[in-house]
Amino acid sequence: MSDHRSPDTGFRTSLLEENDGPAVNPTDNRTMGEIIAARFSRRGFLKGSLAVSAIAATVSPLALVAADDARAAEASAFTFDELEAGIDDKHHVAPGYDADVLLRWGDPLFADSPEFDPAKQSAEAQAKQFGYNNDYVGYIPIDGSAEHGLLVVNHEYTNPHLMFPGIVKIVDKDGKKAAEVAPLSKEQVDVEMAAHGGSIVEIRKDGGKWQVVRDGKLNRRITSNTEMQLAGPAAGHDRLKTNADPSGTKVIGTFNNCAGGVTPWGTYVMAEENIHGYFSGELPEGHKEAANYKRLGIPEGAYEWGAHYDRFNLAKEPNEANRFGWIVEVDVNDPASVPRKRTAMGRFKHEGAESIVAKDGRVVFYLGDDERFDYAYKFVTTGKFNANDLAANKDLLDDGTLHVANFGEDGTVEWMPIVFGQGPLTAENGFASQADVLIETRRAADLLGATKMDRPEDIQPNGANGKVYVMLTNNSKRKAEQVDAANPRASNAFGHIIEISEDGGDFAAAKGKWEVLLKCGDPSVAEVGATFSTATTANGWFGMPDNCAVDSAGRLWVATDGQGPKATGRTDGLWAVDTEGAARATSKLFFRVPIGAEMCGPLFAPDDQTAFVAVQHPGDGGEDWEAFGRPSYYEDLSTRWPDFKPDMPTRPSVVAITKKGGGKIAV
Ligand code: FEO
Ligand code: CA
Ligand code: CA
Repeated sequence: MSDHRSPDTGFRTSLLEENDGPAVNPTDNRTMGEIIAARFSRRGFLKGSLAVSAIAATVSPLALVAADDARAAEASAFTFDELEAGIDDKHHVAPGYDADVLLRWGDPLFADSPEFDPAKQSAEAQAKQFGYNNDYVGYIPIDGSAEHGLLVVNHEYTNPHLMFPGIVKIVDKDGKKAAEVAPLSKEQVDVEMAAHGGSIVEIRKDGGKWQVVRDGKLNRRITSNTEMQLAGPAAGHDRLKTNADPSGTKVIGTFNNCAGGVTPWGTYVMAEENIHGYFSGELPEGHKEAANYKRLGIPEGAYEWGAHYDRFNLAKEPNEANRFGWIVEVDVNDPASVPRKRTAMGRFKHEGAESIVAKDGRVVFYLGDDERFDYAYKFVTTGKFNANDLAANKDLLDDGTLHVANFGEDGTVEWMPIVFGQGPLTAENGFASQADVLIETRRAADLLGATKMDRPEDIQPNGANGKVYVMLTNNSKRKAEQVDAANPRASNAFGHIIEISEDGGDFAAAKGKWEVLLKCGDPSVAEVGATFSTATTANGWFGMPDNCAVDSAGRLWVATDGQGPKATGRTDGLWAVDTEGAARATSKLFFRVPIGAEMCGPLFAPDDQTAFVAVQHPGDGGEDWEAFGRPSYYEDLSTRWPDFKPDMPTRPSVVAITKKGGGKIAV
């Protein structure tokens, strides 16, 4: 924690702007961000999209592209009237739609849950309430229904400065205001631990509106204290043994669950992403895990859990960090089931785990490792999916082959198997077994020569057209000499999307072809080099693609993380992106989040009549927000949240978007 302590006050300085870990709302786009910032005066921000449109109009050669615009607009798969981009403290949806808050941090999930009271939080209450910072959202139908099912939601991380009153103080640093967060009490750490993990919540659509079934018998909270089992090739390995668990198979809890997935057999998978922030202390001198931990940035110490619990202190439990960074599978049909960490799927900063059944019945999971210069993976099960007996699939994830992507300059992608004994993955390089290879997946992929990507986030297979979309958020650290075909921009401030076509339309194929679908950013700024179609309006472009979804018509929707006043002059949101025909690379804004938030989810109900979106950390960020007429996070909880109006989601929330009068979204 020392790097987060002020030498003068002993207080922790703001978690927000300094690290690359769980508490970052990435705005790592200084170079290009400054170019954009110069285009938006502060007054311009206040006027929102009007200002944006005016600027675009002065530089865009509209007359020349009118014909293209008409063709693309005609061909677009999306018919909704576009929302205006902008910045304020509310969420907004395109005209003709309702966006209703379904679940917010603190909402009771059980008949005996206490009502949310931000001034009287306790771990016990939080463990019975909806957790913090909702990221992944999945839907598991009950009896095949599109209007009655289980919503599964990851709670990625906590923002103590937004959760607890009275822990922030303002100091002057070089004449600038800065926030410092007081050390948390053990009780507050316990609330944080209970606010992480996931929620499984029965929901039902009634009269066109979704409701939480508070006494749903499958409702469940999973937290950083839920007992779990390590399963697969690394389970029981010496490197996973601790004082509390000499078996190396029993682990307590999960955290930093970013995106995830629902398997074809109806289980919920949670990806453990930025695990480094939760560990503090130092490994004993010369410890054998030193290089392994360094590759993952462990310990980063952003959280104070190690001050209260030995297992998060590397000096006391040097192996505990090897028990995190996995994919966790949860059987939602039994609230007492023990979640399993599936070690066969590798250990890294797992972003998501979207899956699809391949032609021969094996199941393919696409996995991103969200860090600058890290890799895109896919896992192919050895066994085949059994659609007639879902229970027969229960351990499919313990046996399979993990692959890492090598994106060739010639437009081919090779999925390289990560298998002990093959190529460089041998004793010569310090691997004694497949368990070793999986525990140090990143190092194994390094040795195989995988392509260093610009932060691989969600990777989404599309069963409708056989394509796979890879979201690459950004990478301001890529230098000109590090540019390659698949990561074509130096100082990549705004990210890009790659489209993969697996060979023969077979998702389990060892090879495929790839191309860049979209380079993101403001297309009216030549230096940005964005490649949206000319039919994309001044509201329609975006930066920092992060999460995504494909609806049942096979259309792509992209959610962003890291926009804002300095970066793009607009908040994060959900954009509909055409991928086919003349409209390809045309993007339209559908929903946007309140200031400081990132856009997660998204997810379409099986009948496409609802889009569920997750609004993470609304209100987060620096002092800039004050200039936009909203209180900054420096103020006390009571003044920041004078009320909890459902239409002003100042708490992290899941929002259900439906068409007024009913019907499918965006058609
Ligand atoms: Fe948790 Fe990579 O977003
Ligand atoms: Ca994400
Ligand atoms: Ca994110």
